[in-house]
Amino acid sequence: MRGGTEVEALVSLLMTPRWRGLHWLGTRLLDGVPSSVCTSRTWVTAQLSTSVPDVPVETLDIVKLLTSELVTNAIVHSRSRDGLLFVHLGVSPPGRGAVIHVEVLDVGSDNGPPVVRTDPDGDSGRGLFLVDTLSRRWGTADAKPGRAVWFQAPYTPSP
Ligand SMILES: Nc1ncnc2c1ncn2[C@@H]1O[C@H](COP(=O)(O)OP(=O)(O)OP(=O)(O)O)[C@@H](O)[C@H]1O
Ligand SMILES: [Mg+2]
Repeated sequence: MRGGTEVEALVSLLMTPRWRGLHWLGTRLLDGVPSSVCTSRTWVTAQLSTSVPDVPVETLDIVKLLTSELVTNAIVHSRSRDGLLFVHLGVSPPGRGAVIHVEVLDVGSDNGPPVVRTDPDGDSGRGLFLVDTLSRRWGTADAKPGRAVWFQAPYTPSP
């Protein structure tokens, strides 16, 4: 994705129903290289610390961990390994049911929709298991071009 296509992908994504009621906090474009996993963690931490300072540290830890898993998956399992990926960050208004929303948009692959592996003894398949366990909800959607994988972490403001 380059230039105008990037903008189109971004705009169409933010019009999807799962973004309804969320405040968009920012988008980070990353290269599909291993060091981008660390960059994504640093970025979500900085964004949330600035925009949502009352996020509990436990919530921040979960958001960082699950963001790492999704960015890693985009780099390992999609064609973003030869290109770029987006990380989008959003938050719902504080209150009952509030969430932090993280969405990773890759440039697609030949795989079917990502699914949680259920073999507890497998050497791999931990990433989406963690996402499934620690998030309130998560999902995946085809985004033309590419694929979005997202999660929402419950968020109760620190007193
Ligand atoms: N962005 C993606 N694009 C294409 N396939 C994906 C994507 N994310 C996950 N998958 C598919 O879903 C499977 C499960 O992902 P998961 O993160 O749980 O395991 P893993 O990446 O194989 O191993 P681990 O995360 O433990 O290193 C992957 O093996 C892959 O087939
Ligand atoms: Mg993984």
